[in-house]
This record gives sequence, C-alpha cells and structure tokens, in this order.
Amino acid sequence: KPSTFYRCGSLRNFAYTWGPPDPSTLKVTSAASQVAHAPPPMVLQENYKHSLLKSREQYDAMYKRSIEDPQGFWSDIGKEFHWEKKWHADHHSYNFDVRQGPIQNQWFKGGQTNITYNCLDRHVEAGRGDQICFLWEGNDLDRDRRMTYKEVLDEVCRVANWLRSVGVKKGDAVAIYAPMLCELPIAMLACARIGAMHSVVFAGFSADSLAGRIVDCKSRVVITTSGVMRGSKKVELKKIVDNALNICKKSGFEVDTCLVYENDNAIDKASCPWTEGRDRWWHDEIPKQSTEAAVEWMDSEDPLFLLYTSGSTGKPKGVMHTTGGYMVMAATTTKYVFDMQPGDVYWCTADCGWITGHTYLTYGPLLNGATSVVFEGTPTYPTPARCWQIVEKYKVKQFYTAPTLIRSLEGSGDQHVTSQDRSSLRILGTVGEPINPQAWNWYHKVVGEGRCPIVDTWWQTETAAHLISPLPGVWGQKPGSASLPFFGAHIAMVDEKGQEIEGPGEGYLCVKSSWPSTIRTIYGDHDRYETTYFAPFKGFYFSGDGCRRDADGYYWITGRVDDVINVSGHRIGTAEVEGALEEHPACAEAAVVGFEHPIKGQGIYAYVTLMQGTEFTEDIRKGLVMTVREQIGAFAAPDVIHEAPGLPKTRSGKIMRRVLRKIASKEEDQLGDISTLADPGVVETLLKLRP
Ligand code: WTA
Repeated sequence: KPSTFYRCGSLRNFAYTWGPPDPSTLKVTSAASQVAHAPPPMVLQENYKHSLLKSREQYDAMYKRSIEDPQGFWSDIGKEFHWEKKWHADHHSYNFDVRQGPIQNQWFKGGQTNITYNCLDRHVEAGRGDQICFLWEGNDLDRDRRMTYKEVLDEVCRVANWLRSVGVKKGDAVAIYAPMLCELPIAMLACARIGAMHSVVFAGFSADSLAGRIVDCKSRVVITTSGVMRGSKKVELKKIVDNALNICKKSGFEVDTCLVYENDNAIDKASCPWTEGRDRWWHDEIPKQSTEAAVEWMDSEDPLFLLYTSGSTGKPKGVMHTTGGYMVMAATTTKYVFDMQPGDVYWCTADCGWITGHTYLTYGPLLNGATSVVFEGTPTYPTPARCWQIVEKYKVKQFYTAPTLIRSLEGSGDQHVTSQDRSSLRILGTVGEPINPQAWNWYHKVVGEGRCPIVDTWWQTETAAHLISPLPGVWGQKPGSASLPFFGAHIAMVDEKGQEIEGPGEGYLCVKSSWPSTIRTIYGDHDRYETTYFAPFKGFYFSGDGCRRDADGYYWITGRVDDVINVSGHRIGTAEVEGALEEHPACAEAAVVGFEHPIKGQGIYAYVTLMQGTEFTEDIRKGLVMTVREQIGAFAAPDVIHEAPGLPKTRSGKIMRRVLRKIASKEEDQLGDISTLADPGVVETLLKLRP
C-alpha cells in the first residue's frame, strides 16, 4: 500500500474547497468558553514593573498606529536591525481578498538582510561575543554545556561551509531531524546563513512522515543524530532516518548526503547503522571547516524556512515563511511579550520541531541577545521537579511552556515545585492550547508565587509570531484569556456569513490585514494556501479557531473549529489519523474526533469499522494503535478506539462528526437532530459498543 502521506494527498483527493465551517463546531465546550460565559472574570493587576511599555495608554497609541500606518510602524522597528541594503520607502503591499486576485504579502521590499547575521554576528561585532548564547541541559542530570555567541557563530559558520561543500545552494531545502542538542538550532542558523530553507521535522515523527516531508520539498541533504535518550528511553533516530530514506528512494527521490551527529550517550558510532557514500559523521566533517563563512544577503521576501503542519485535510502543509518580515516580528514579539533584555536567561520548553522552537527558542531570543536554555530531556525525568531544578540552576527569568505540562505538573504535587528556588522568575508564558483557569491559577500562585504575570500567547505555525497576548504588567489579566492583539495584528471576529462582529460576542477568529510574519504560501501549492486560509471568509485570513470577545475587548480562544485537534499542544489533523488507521489491513473505515482530556487538553477518539467478518479483538485494537504510531508518530496514537459497525452518515454519505463528538464526550443527550441520518439506528449501536 502507498504511505499515508501520498494516499491522503493524491489518491484520497480531499476537496480543498470548503465553505465556512459547520456552525455546530463553534459550540465547543472548552474551559475557556465556559469562563467567558461566567460572571465577570477575575482581573489581576500585576505589580510587575514593566520597563518597555509604561501604560495601557502607550499600548493603545502604538496599537492604533500599527493598524493605521503599518508600513511606518514596522519601518521604525526594522531600523533596529542590520540591513545590507535598505528597503524601498514604499515597501509593503498585500492582498487578502481572493476576489481581487492572488493572495500576496510583501514587507520590507527592496531590502536585503540575513537573519543569522542579525542573531549572531551583530552581537559579536558589538563586543558581546563572550556572552552565553545557549545553556544546554542534557537528559541526564550530570550533562550540560554552555556556548557563547562567538562559539555558536563559529560552529554555524563551519556547518554553513560544509553545507556549501556538499552543494547546498540558496533556495534549496535541507531537512533536519534531530533532538534538542545545540546542534539543532545551529544547523537551522547555518542554513539561514547560506540562504537554504531549513525544514525541521520533529524527531517524534515516524519514518513515513519524515519521508513525506523530505520528498515534498526535495531536500537532498538530511541532518540528524545517531539517537537520543528521552527520559530512560533510548530512541534510535538514525535507524528511523534510514527507513525514511528507503521510503523516499522507493518513491523515486534519493537523498544524497546525510550528516550524522554522534550522540554517544544514546547510540555510539559502532552501533549506528551506516550507508557508505551517503552518510557522513559530523565529528569528521565539521571541525575541519573554516569559522569564516560569507553571509548570503537575502531579499526580504526570499524564503527562510518551511515547517510542515497539520490541516483539516490529510496531507501536511509546508508552511513557508520569508526573511525580513519574519525577522522583525519574531524579534519584536519576543521583546515585548517576554519583556526581554539582552543577557536575560530565558527558557522555552518547546522542541525546535515545532514553530515555537523556531521563533521563541531560536530566532526571537537570539535576535534580542538573550541566553536561551536548550533542554534535551523530558520535563518529568528523573522527577517532576526537573523543570524547577533547571530554573534554579540557570536562574531563569522567563519560562515559556504549554498548558498540558502545567496540568501534568500540577497533578504531581506542589512539593516538587516549592522545593526549588524560583525567585529568579519574572514572567511565565503559555502556548499551544487554551489554558483552563484552574491550571492558570496554579501556575500563577504556586509556580510564580503570585508575582509573575502570565502571558497566554495565541498564535499559529502560520502566523509565526504571537498575534494575541498579554503584555506583562501593562493591563489586568483574566485567567484563561489571551487578552488583546499584539501590534500589527488586525484581529477580527466574523460570523458564519463572514460578517464582522463588533463588540462582545462569539465567532470565527480572523485577521483583517497582513502582518509581517504572515504565512506566504504553502510550499508548491499556492491554490491550497488561498482556499485554506482566504476562501472561507472573503477578505480575511481565517485561523481555524473559534473565539469570544468580552465587554473589555479581551479574546478567549475556544479552540479549533475545523478537523484539527490539539493534543498536548501538538497539532494533529483528524484526517491524518484516519488515513493511518486505514492502513491497518483489518480497517475498512475510520472517523476520528477530539474529546476533552484532563491533561492533554484534547485526546484522540477513533471510531473504526472493520472489514466484514473481522472480529474486534484486543489484538486488533492494539494493532490499530501501533499502525498510527508507525505511520505518524507516538504522539498521535489514539486514546480510545471505539468499534463502529457503522458510522453516522447523511444520505449523501457525509459523516456527521457532530454526533461522533457528542458520543465521545458522553453528551449523547445533546445529539441534536439526527433525523437526516441515512440510518439513525447506527447511533444506538455505537452507544451500546462504547468501550
Ligand atoms: C492553538 C502553536 C488557545 C490554536 C503556536 C491554534 C491556542 C493552534 C493558543 C496552532 C492559546 C495556540 N490559546 N489556543 N494561547 N496558542 N493555540 O500551529 O488552536 O502548532 O490554531 O502553533 O494552537 O497550533 P500550532
């Protein structure tokens, strides 16, 4: 059988064109929406003394200008960076309306710069080369490493020279499949230095998923490591890469060079699978390169990176970001949201395999001259105190993580937190999913001792930078609300007809005009880009999220309204999981929905119809879960498999997901009208078979 990746993309042929989403999906009962309904939420005034923005009035004035005169606003900020060639006076144009022609975004047109130069050389040239750039903390307690800006620059130049030596040129894609070693952001920065697009693939993805991503952007070079320890578990990454490269080969695309870093505490040289001619050891190749590497000056709109993400259809989308606007907005959001000063020790727990690790572990902190903590391990190994040990060890000032981690640590008991010194903490951040007020309050009171503002940042792979977030100390906080738009984020809420809703209410979360780090296209498929983001509501970028706005103008994100689910902050397309389940020989059809999960935010609930005559045994259930792990990755494994002799379909054959969601969340008393089902009896059977 062909792999999921191809099957979903071509054979299954999902319709990319879709109208406004099913209005019933807006009524997601997420914690945030319940709170938005509740009587006046608690507003906390923080006593944090903010040094960048002094008042709400100052924000209001700056925000107003950023919307009314975006070109002027961002030009003033753009001047803080090094540009080899200045942009044109009239540097910005965009079109968000499909009726007016192709969708496009341009910022800093005519300008030339390089993001790596701005992240590294600029600081070294200013005499700050000895400052710590990365504080690396290994999986095991006794392993750590520190690298100064100068050391990182030298290593980036070596890798850049090596990339050039194997023929990588400006505009080529380079795949990176690696754990959280300093070498991962270093490889990204090396690509950016020579103008190659990095395509980082989270090292929890399976060989099949990695192969799909390599083939889609035709990366001839792959950078990886021998393996990694995650907690007490050993993961043989190079083996997965080898499988992926075989899959690529079978589909007619061959990777010619694979650079392997020996991570010898997991897998040493001797036990690492090897293909002569194609594979090269980092330790043999990189140290002999020169530490001088010419910078490739990039046009503002030259591509910087690709990052594949899940959408409502099966095939992952290669989100493309460009150089100038991304750089300016990554730096500016980091600076204001985390109130970041040069030299701050900042820790973002995200992996570079996701957008958060791109913008808020690598580019944002380095552009601001901060010290970024890079953690290889898992937050609860060897004990649930690990995060706070790291905070104490490095005196972390800003800590940024996902609500799922907060909920899981809350469950392990306060003693793991309070046993460590957290007095260095000033700002706490969250990202990836709505944070429920209970977890918010625990984070605020127990972790932050009631003195740290919480920045609940709403954004996406496509927006590349925060679009809605509190600015610390500038306005009161409401637990569970991302609060107000960032500069330049022209947020709009629309109803199902695409009419803008003013004032308090509930609707679809959209953006009305271009911001500097707007997704520029889906790699190789501009049509899909337009139909996914700009066709549902004419004249708007549609985020895929629902939201509420309260009387104070605060936004409450209610979650995805499309077929995307958010599991532990990882974005997963239900169609991808369905495609994977259908790879199992016994599976005739599958339908996947999300359900509320106390720790993960959402869990994966799969309804599976087996081939006629197949009995639903425990082995089959396990086999189905295993298939998803192999096809996508362990993080996408379904929590529940529900035997479904039939699925609730309309007479035209469309699966009524609303019904499946209600059964999954045990709300069968709210099924609504099911008279349009081809066979209403299906519902009865499903309820009887509930696991
Ligand atoms: C969700 C992660 C509520 C949202 C940066 C969005 C959030 C999706 C928040 C993007 C937040 C992100 N509150 N929901 N503060 N931040 N989301 O592309 O559903 O992995 O559409 O980017 O995460 O996920 P992605």
